[in-house]
Amino acid sequence: MKIITVANQKGGVGKTTVECHLTAYAAEEGKRVLVVDLDEGDLSQFFAALEDGDETPYLMSSQLFTGDHDGYQPRQVGPNTWLIEADVPLLDVDDMPLDVIHQLRPALERFAGDFDLCMIDTPPNLQRRMVAALTASDAVVAPFNISAFTLARLPKLMNTIETVQDRYNPELKFLGYLPNLVNSRSPEEIDALPGLREAYGDSMFAEQIIYRPCINKALAAGNPVWWKARSGSQREAGKEMKRACKAVLDKVFTA
Ligand SMILES: Nc1ncnc2c1ncn2[C@@H]1O[C@H](COP(=O)(O)OP(=O)(O)OP(=O)(O)O)[C@@H](O)[C@H]1O
Ligand SMILES: [Mg+2]
Repeated sequence: MKIITVANQKGGVGKTTVECHLTAYAAEEGKRVLVVDLDEGDLSQFFAALEDGDETPYLMSSQLFTGDHDGYQPRQVGPNTWLIEADVPLLDVDDMPLDVIHQLRPALERFAGDFDLCMIDTPPNLQRRMVAALTASDAVVAPFNISAFTLARLPKLMNTIETVQDRYNPELKFLGYLPNLVNSRSPEEIDALPGLREAYGDSMFAEQIIYRPCINKALAAGNPVWWKARSGSQREAGKEMKRACKAVLDKVFTA
C-alpha cells in the first residue's frame, strides 16, 4: 500500500479537490483506495453519508492517533473506496505532544494488505496533523494556484517537507507541485506557467488544471468532474483532470 498525502500550507488551493479526483481515478483503475480525512470534513462530505440506521462503529480519524482502533474498520463509500472520516476529537491532535506524529504510520500499516493506495487529505496549517501525514507517507503532491501569496509559500512547504525528510521520514518523496485553478482568461497566469516550470524543473507537473465551475459543481454532487459530462467544458475539465491524476499516480506506482 502506497501512502500519499496531498498538502500545501496555503488554504483553498485545491488539496481536497485533487484528493477526491485522485481517489476516484485510482478506484476506477481498479485500485483499492483507503481515504483518510485529516482535515475538517470537506473530504468526508464528498463521499456518501452514513446510511440511516447504520450503527456500525466505523473507524474515525482521531482514533488513528490515540491507538484506540482495534476492531474498528473504515467505511466503504463506493466501489473500491473506503473512508476514515474526520471527527471532532481529531482537532485535539494538534494540541497533543509532538510524539503523536509517530502514531499515524503504524495505525495505517494495519491496512497495508487490504489496500493498494492510501490517500491523506490535510489541513493547510503546519500543525501535528500535517506533520503526521508527511511522516506517515511514501510521497506528497502539492496543488497550488498562481497567486503571489501562494507562490510565496511554496518555499515554506518545501522547507517543511525537507525537515520531515531529515527528522522523521527519509523515504518521503516529493511528487511535485500541481498547478490548479489556472485562470485561462488571465494572460498573466498563462504566461507565468512556462517560467515556473523552468524554475521548478521536475518538481512541477507538466499537467495543469484550469479553473472551471463544473469542477466545483461535480464535487458538490459527490462526483468526479468526468462523471456524466454534459458540456464541452465539462468534458475538457474531465480529460484534464484525468491527465493530471494519471501523471501523479504514474509517479507513485513507478517510483
Ligand atoms: N480547478 C478548479 N476549478 C473550479 N473550482 C475549483 C478548482 N479547484 C478547486 N476548486 C474549488 O475551490 C474551492 C477550494 O478548493 P479545495 O476545497 O479543494 O481547496 P483546499 O486546498 O482543500 O482548501 P482548504 O485548505 O480549505 O482545505 C472549492 O470550492 C473547490 O470546489
Ligand atoms: Mg481541503
